[in-house]
Amino acid sequence: MKENKFEFQYEVYNDISELTKEDADLLINARATTKQAYAPYSNFFVGAVARLTNGETVAGTNQENASYPVGICAERVLLGNAATIYPGVSIDTIAISYDSKEVASDHPISPCGMCRQALLEYETRTGAPIRLLLAGQQGKIYIVKTVRFLLPFAFDSSELL
Ligand code: THU
Repeated sequence: MKENKFEFQYEVYNDISELTKEDADLLINARATTKQAYAPYSNFFVGAVARLTNGETVAGTNQENASYPVGICAERVLLGNAATIYPGVSIDTIAISYDSKEVASDHPISPCGMCRQALLEYETRTGAPIRLLLAGQQGKIYIVKTVRFLLPFAFDSSELL
């Protein structure tokens, strides 16, 4: 018997002033994009903005529904938009932020399990790791170098193709 260990490294920044200009601009954009979210049921407004490898940006926000499970997260809205507007172009970085009428937006959130699976598929299909920049409206910022770090033992296309 052998025990394996999964671990990963991520960067922690105290606030936006420690980021590069490129990353800071993306985070400012994601923070502002939370305003486009439709989240009347949770009052939790998520904004995600991707910087693509062609230099373009694409956004997504969560879109809720009176039939709750129909709602979709910001990250998957973003991926659908990116795939449709810039087919085949890989994503360099996605900044994800949120705002809330109920809780403070003062720490990073990370994508839900379903979105991790969807983000991983995007990495695989475009052949490039997606950097994630995670932050609230204020406070610490985390940068994770690839979605794969967030989904150990992932089931991916290599099992099927
Ligand atoms: N949500 C996202 O859009 N992205 C996340 O990373 C976490 C959760 C949305 C789903 C739902 O509309 C609301 O936030 C509360 O769960």
